[in-house]
Amino acid sequence: MARLLMLSSVILLSAYLTEQVHFLQPDYINKLNGEISTWKAGENFPPDTPIEYLKGLLGSHGVEAAANGPFKTQDPNYNSIFYIPENFDARKKWKHCKTIGMVRDQGNCGSCWAFGTTGAFSDRLCIATNGEFNELLSAEELAFCCTSGGSGCGGGTPMVAWNYFSTNGIVTGGDYDSKQGCQPYLVPPCIHGVPAEQEGSCRGQPMEENHRCTRKCYGNTTIDYQKDHRYVYGAYYLTIDTIQEEMLAYGPVEATFEVYDDFVNYKSGVYEKSENASYLGGHSVKLIGWGVEKETPYWLLVNSWNENWGDKGMFKIRRGTNECEIEESMSAGVPVTD
Ligand SMILES: *[C@@H]1O[C@H](CO)[C@@H](O)[C@H](O)[C@H]1NC(C)=O
Ligand SMILES: *[C@@H]1O[C@H](CO)[C@@H](O)[C@H](O)[C@H]1NC(C)=O
Repeated sequence: MARLLMLSSVILLSAYLTEQVHFLQPDYINKLNGEISTWKAGENFPPDTPIEYLKGLLGSHGVEAAANGPFKTQDPNYNSIFYIPENFDARKKWKHCKTIGMVRDQGNCGSCWAFGTTGAFSDRLCIATNGEFNELLSAEELAFCCTSGGSGCGGGTPMVAWNYFSTNGIVTGGDYDSKQGCQPYLVPPCIHGVPAEQEGSCRGQPMEENHRCTRKCYGNTTIDYQKDHRYVYGAYYLTIDTIQEEMLAYGPVEATFEVYDDFVNYKSGVYEKSENASYLGGHSVKLIGWGVEKETPYWLLVNSWNENWGDKGMFKIRRGTNECEIEESMSAGVPVTD
């Protein structure tokens, strides 16, 4: 009987241990901090967060798709850019555009691709109209109405999103529960740092089901749904040679990269993949600047995992070495302003 009890507790214990995601454990984070030099790791997700939950947040199919182009290599507006500054932060250059630095929350949904693209388009439209347009475009409409090449919370391809802005357009839409714009986001935010039982935690819950696409304004209902659509002239990928000129001319761009498991623990500094990290999935974010920190060149990006992730919701990643393929699949479009 004692033996049986002992045996069953060993089985239970090992089941418990294998369920714990190794890269979220304090031991692993300590060891990681001993090996990395350009960035710091810490707890963003509690150690009992299931790996499926983390993989669910990574919904960009952009890295693979970029191989097919089209790439933009020239633009008449690049000709007036005479030098590339060593440091650049779009929030400082276009202070009047409040959306540039906004850290949003995709909730329990792989809609990062909708945040990276609508985010960059909102900023670009503000810049192109000198602040006359100064609000968010709808991640909700994009995620759940753009179904060719996008599957809502199941992920999507940023290039397909920009093409959608070009042909269908996109309405305005603010954060969850905001009533701002035509179609505000309808997936509730996730508070990552709290126990699974606590209200606001998404852990242990199934991913949000895809919403039905609605063709009317339910946020600010005085807005005309048809007229509210904003467009771009076309969609393109950037090459490593054009990223900075493109940003100086038009503002932030969408960036897709490969997420490895150490990245979820990012807290500050310039991220570089550590030696043993394993691939988790493709992720889409918004690129807003670059610079050099302690001699390491970096890109500055805004994530959509809430302000309590990373460096107040933002991160830096090594620049110039195609870290995690980030320099091969950035996408954008030029806003139509008339
Ligand atoms: C990575 O793997 C090497 C070789 O197995 C090991 O020495 C090192 O401690 C590992 N690092 C981490 C952070 O797990
Ligand atoms: C709703 O939209 C109208 C028309 O664009 C605008 O004038 C008004 O300020 C908006 N209301 C709110 C609460 O945002």
